[in-house]
Amino acid sequence: MSSKKVLTFEGKDITVVWDGNLCIHAEECWRADSELFDVNREPFGDPDLVDAEEADRIAKRCPSGAIAWRANDASAEEAAADENTVTVVPDGPLYVRGDLSIEGVPAQDGNTTKRVALCRCGLSKNKPFCDNSHIEGDWRDKGAVGREGPGFEEPGGPLSISPRKDGPLLLRGNVAVRAASGCIRWKGSKVSLCRCGLSKRKPFCDGSHKGEFEADGES
Ligand code: FES
Repeated sequence: MSSKKVLTFEGKDITVVWDGNLCIHAEECWRADSELFDVNREPFGDPDLVDAEEADRIAKRCPSGAIAWRANDASAEEAAADENTVTVVPDGPLYVRGDLSIEGVPAQDGNTTKRVALCRCGLSKNKPFCDNSHIEGDWRDKGAVGREGPGFEEPGGPLSISPRKDGPLLLRGNVAVRAASGCIRWKGSKVSLCRCGLSKRKPFCDGSHKGEFEADGES
């Protein structure tokens, strides 16, 4: 696992955390129209310049779960999105949002129970999380989603994510998969998504990982 720094910004009413082990520098936080983060300020986070509602809005912009916030009196924190979604990023990770639990992975300082960027190229040194190794590896995939899935009756509910040993990400729970085009293409309640980077039916696992991919995970 990676061991970058974690910064905790404690304000009068709320505390904001930035987890460098999860951050993939999507830049959504500091490009936001908000004073919460300013890369030219030291420290760059200041929760006393925003209220809880704004901290929540900024945290939700972060696709990796690197930013978390909570009220100091434990009365409030980020709520899960109403629907579980996976967005396939072109040449990059899977952005997952919803009511998430990642099996067999220690709790992180950021908020990976609501938002997370998961490696799908097989190159990350911080699996199952993306660490931007797809850039250095010049890994390519346009992010199309071919299949449509069986669908589900009601959206929402918990979504468990199980990184399988030497294999895919097994997702259990209602989830919609959004292609890089922005359209929801697949809906269902159980799906194996490729995380070795080798599938010919990305983002779905097609068994190409067998004998070709090694990663920690559940057996
Ligand atoms: S994990 Fe990539 S093909 Fe199965």
